[in-house]
Amino acid sequence: MTETILKMQKKVKRYLDKDRYDHTIGVMHTAGCLAMRYGANLEQALTAGLLHDCAKCVPADEKIKLCEKNHIEISDAEYKNPGLLHAKLGALFAREKYGIENEEILRSIESHTTGRPNMSLLEKIVFLADYIEPSRDFPGVENLLELSKLSLDKAVLCA
Ligand SMILES: [Fe+2]
Ligand SMILES: [Fe+2]
Repeated sequence: MTETILKMQKKVKRYLDKDRYDHTIGVMHTAGCLAMRYGANLEQALTAGLLHDCAKCVPADEKIKLCEKNHIEISDAEYKNPGLLHAKLGALFAREKYGIENEEILRSIESHTTGRPNMSLLEKIVFLADYIEPSRDFPGVENLLELSKLSLDKAVLCA
């Protein structure tokens, strides 16, 4: 892994609780595996996986404040459930606190909870990695894991 990623990893760790950090590392590694399987850029996949939840542990009222201050649109659903904002805010943090300029990485962070139509290869990888990383334990995760080795699109659809 590159020096840059290791540096970012240390920083991410300071801003997440233990469970979220473990999940984050799982997503980073899973995104790396999927990138190798489906021919995406490895470094971009690791970076997006590492940073996808970097705003997760910001308190709810702070999430709203930060979004308002940075002119990030907040829907009614997001006002009611500010946790949803961690994806949009995560993209902002990635740009401003981690110096990420690659738009595809930033978009992958922004779309990782909801997905969106016409996702790029990297977006699909991060979206799926968030679902199937090793600490995830829900009914059907085994099947989804198997499917993710066979078809990225079908696995994303299924997730
Ligand atoms: Fe997330
Ligand atoms: Fe996540």
